[in-house]
Amino acid sequence: MPDLFLQLRDADDPDDDGVTPPLSEDDALQLLRDADFTASKLIPWGSNYTFGVALTCPDGREQLAIYKPRAGEAPLYDFPDGTLYRREFASYLLSRHLGWGLVPPTVIREGPNGIGSVQLYVEPSPDSATDQRYWGRRLPQIERLVLFDHIANNADRKIGHCLRDRTGRVWGIDHGLTFHRYPKLRTVLWQFVGDPISPALLADLAQLQRRAADLQAALRPHLDRTEIEALFGRIDRLLESGCYPNLNPRRNVPYGWW
Ligand SMILES: Nc1ncnc2c1ncn2[C@@H]1O[C@H](COP(=O)(O)OP(=O)(O)O)[C@@H](O)[C@H]1O
Ligand SMILES: [Mg+2]
Repeated sequence: MPDLFLQLRDADDPDDDGVTPPLSEDDALQLLRDADFTASKLIPWGSNYTFGVALTCPDGREQLAIYKPRAGEAPLYDFPDGTLYRREFASYLLSRHLGWGLVPPTVIREGPNGIGSVQLYVEPSPDSATDQRYWGRRLPQIERLVLFDHIANNADRKIGHCLRDRTGRVWGIDHGLTFHRYPKLRTVLWQFVGDPISPALLADLAQLQRRAADLQAALRPHLDRTEIEALFGRIDRLLESGCYPNLNPRRNVPYGWW
């Protein structure tokens, strides 16, 4: 598992520019689970009640995170109520089991507005959101995100949900609309449509399939049985065809580019 390059500020150190040596993924998870919520601000452009929060460790370190309480989820006609925060976490689990490190470390815990997902904040590079041409390129790190969306059945891959941090690393965020049992892929990333999947990524998929029991066990508390079966059905089909499916512009584009 790659180490993370994170924004961790030492509140007492005026020279701290916020960039510390890499923090292991496990340390990040522990921080997300155990640190205190010390500030919280509603993000006005989220589709749900999504908060930017400050987490403070006993040693004074601070970390920004994104908190999505179950109670703040807007009801949807096609996803069961009160399950989006679990889908955020399930997406993190999938990314972790694939070894792709695409979804920032995420936990489920109690917060100021009740139970929800808490995800590490990834500071985007200044041009991350505006550089639409970047996200149209055929780069390996973008292909991984595309394949991840096919596997997770992501219904909401907008440009604003694709991040690049200051080191150039690609991240995906906002995975509440994932793992539906029926095909729901909606994405702005169309450059690989119909193409063969890269051999290295197929090998990762095959490995995931061989270790299916581990991921199934991890997902069981968070998704229902039919959703987990559908997930492994998608993995089987992608491995069988070896190609990205053709998409339909009337069905497979998210509502709103951003
Ligand atoms: N892990 C993250 N790191 C950095 N910014 C994030 C992260 N998660 C969310 N955001 C920011 O918060 C905004 C709202 O979050 P999003 O996940 O889209 O919530 P919603 O489910 O309400 O649509 C995003 O557009 C992005 O600007
Ligand atoms: Mg969103």
